[in-house]
Amino acid sequence: MELEPIKVGLLGLGTVGAGCVNLLKDNAEEIERRAGRKIQITHAAVRDLSKERPCDTSGIRMTANPMEVVEDPEVKVVLELIGGDEEAFDLVMAAIDSGKHVVTANKHLIALRGNEIFAAADEKDRVVHFEAAVAGGIPIIRAIREGLAANTIEWLAGIINGTGNYILTQMSNEGETFADALAEAQRLGYAEADPTFDVEGIDAAHKLAILASIAFGIPLSFDKISTDGISKIADEEIQFAEEMGYRIKHLGIARRNDRGVELRVHPTLVSDQALLASVEGEKNAVMVYGDAVGPTVYYGAGAGAGPTASAVIADLIDIVRIVSADASGRVPHLAFQPDQLSESPIVDSDDFFCGHYFRIQVADEPGVMARITGLLAQFGVSIEHILQKDPENAGDDALVIIVTKPVREGLLMQALEHIQQEAFAREGTVHLRVAQFDD
Ligand code: NAP
Ligand code: HSE
Repeated sequence: MELEPIKVGLLGLGTVGAGCVNLLKDNAEEIERRAGRKIQITHAAVRDLSKERPCDTSGIRMTANPMEVVEDPEVKVVLELIGGDEEAFDLVMAAIDSGKHVVTANKHLIALRGNEIFAAADEKDRVVHFEAAVAGGIPIIRAIREGLAANTIEWLAGIINGTGNYILTQMSNEGETFADALAEAQRLGYAEADPTFDVEGIDAAHKLAILASIAFGIPLSFDKISTDGISKIADEEIQFAEEMGYRIKHLGIARRNDRGVELRVHPTLVSDQALLASVEGEKNAVMVYGDAVGPTVYYGAGAGAGPTASAVIADLIDIVRIVSADASGRVPHLAFQPDQLSESPIVDSDDFFCGHYFRIQVADEPGVMARITGLLAQFGVSIEHILQKDPENAGDDALVIIVTKPVREGLLMQALEHIQQEAFAREGTVHLRVAQFDD
């Protein structure tokens, strides 16, 4: 017997929402074959009803009141694609309350309010899927939650913000300015409504909170993530790093160490031979190390209409399958059973363990280099690379650029503090971290 089409309500018809309408239309036949029945977008809420949409809205009831969509008894699944963590939260909770399943691409919402949302969904026996919230079109949540479920995950690291990676790539390959590259990322639909989320690392931290929770079975811990963005990366850093065989990538890193879990998001030097170094433009890549499987890598488009819609619609198909069959066997939202979350401490940045890059301007005098290397040695910091440059418009000063071997961050910081207190040291030391992965 043929099942009735399932009716879906859309909240938001911007880059991702319109991408979803187009994808459902373009691949309707294939999607129906996978889902087992037709899927119809019947309702859509937007802010501005007069705006032209890059998709066919015929047959869709348009409204400027999203609650109307959420409360309509015809709608069985709500796709939340408006963003933010306030109105979106109220809408998602109302949707769950009125018995609807939810798909969201909103990492901000999941990272900050996921615990409340999942509890409400469990209470009502509803599904909330959020594959598109992390790494756009890459099915990284399913990979960790299901594909790697037999492993103890030791670490994961990746490029998880498409806008940031696009900007760094354009600066490095095309010599574009930061501002121009950001404007282009916005035009292409990669950036968040507030692009400071992209360039200050907040968006990546939202995503890392979700990945770490799924990987390690810890509560969503956005506020404990050490977060730094790319906005302060100067052209010189890109150039000096490249001279020493590195590329600067903005990474999210979650790693178990003997004191707990490191959670950090920051610009990072990676060897130009490393896999992550070759990830360019809006592409994302996530490496996940499981104790049984070893290193695994997931690569693809991390932002944009098509890739994000790919993940949203896959979630929708999964829900349609559940609705059409039996919901009891579904996978827990954060991979682990809700009562099985552990309280692993999130370690302080002093206990991070990695290599470091720093650039310091110094008086170009005899003995300065020896004093710097001596202080590093005193704190147990070994040097991997060292470079001296003459800065422009800085008289007799020199620039010393050093890449260290991996060391506990607290020790490096103490050494750096001592170096900065020396009379030869000028203000404005630049510090970045270096990552090394067994890929
Ligand atoms: P967008 O282009 O700005 O679209 C947002 C849509 O939501 C617009 O159609 C807007 O209406 C509508 N909207 C906003 N507030 C509303 C309200 N109060 N009531 C009704 N409609 C409202 O954003 P987007 O890029 O599609 O992103 C949507 C979500 O997906 C965000 O959570 C984002 O983080 C996430 N995401 C985006 C990407 C990407 O590549 N863009 C990738 C992964 C995840 P109007 O059009 O009338 O203004
Ligand atoms: N602004 C986000 C990014 C969208 O650039 O990665 C995808 O989550």
